Amino acid sequence: MTAKLSVNINKIATIRNSRGGNTPNLLTVAMDCERFGAQGITVHPRPDERHIRYKDVQDLKPILKTEFNIEGNPREQKFVDLVLQTKPAQVTLVPDGLGQLTSDHGWDTVSNKNYLVDIICVFKKAGIRTSIFVDADLKMIEGAKETGTDRIELYTESYAKHFFENKEKAVAPFIVAAKKANELGLGINAGHDLSLQNLNYFAKNVEGLLEVSIGHALISDSLYFGLENTIQLYLRELAKK
Ligand code: PXP
Repeated sequence: MTAKLSVNINKIATIRNSRGGNTPNLLTVAMDCERFGAQGITVHPRPDERHIRYKDVQDLKPILKTEFNIEGNPREQKFVDLVLQTKPAQVTLVPDGLGQLTSDHGWDTVSNKNYLVDIICVFKKAGIRTSIFVDADLKMIEGAKETGTDRIELYTESYAKHFFENKEKAVAPFIVAAKKANELGLGINAGHDLSLQNLNYFAKNVEGLLEVSIGHALISDSLYFGLENTIQLYLRELAKK
């Protein structure tokens, strides 16, 4: 089974916001990503709305045809309300701090167990699939199972960072983590710093990978290759045996 590609369009919003107008048009880009083959669209609204605005999320929902994935920290009530109102296919819970540049750690699923159980229940009751962002750490994967989440998103920054030094070593914890998640019946997503260079090796080695969400590298590559070609190149890396 080939993992699905969800394109994170935060960077498009960053470019738009830098000039205050509506260029590039986020909704058009999202629809074009779908037209070019992306199987999902991901957004990560943050409380300061420095890239994706809460209104963008509301505007995207009715026009998207593929899976809509909203990421964020549920400790922000505004985020919870937005997700419940929007009803995306999936919500990915991330333990970000306020003003954080980008996500840089997964949940401690053990110490936050009770909190996660409650908040996951709120989203599942609304018919929204849940995923929680975790490091490739067996204790955290076992803890994730206890929360009732449908899926985990493996935080892949450490894999990407060490890929060029020693890819076997870089992927090893993710192979072990995925094996545990599969045994426990947790669906597996992955994201952060995945790129044209490191994606195929990850997808080939991580058993049961269902979905990757990719933003920074994909949007950067599209400056050189164009958005349509770039999405096709990423899809090819995911499908290549
Ligand atoms: N997953 C999560 C939880 C994220 O916060 C991000 C970045 O917004 C991504 C995946 C995508 O990471 P990248 O932009 O490095 O592809």
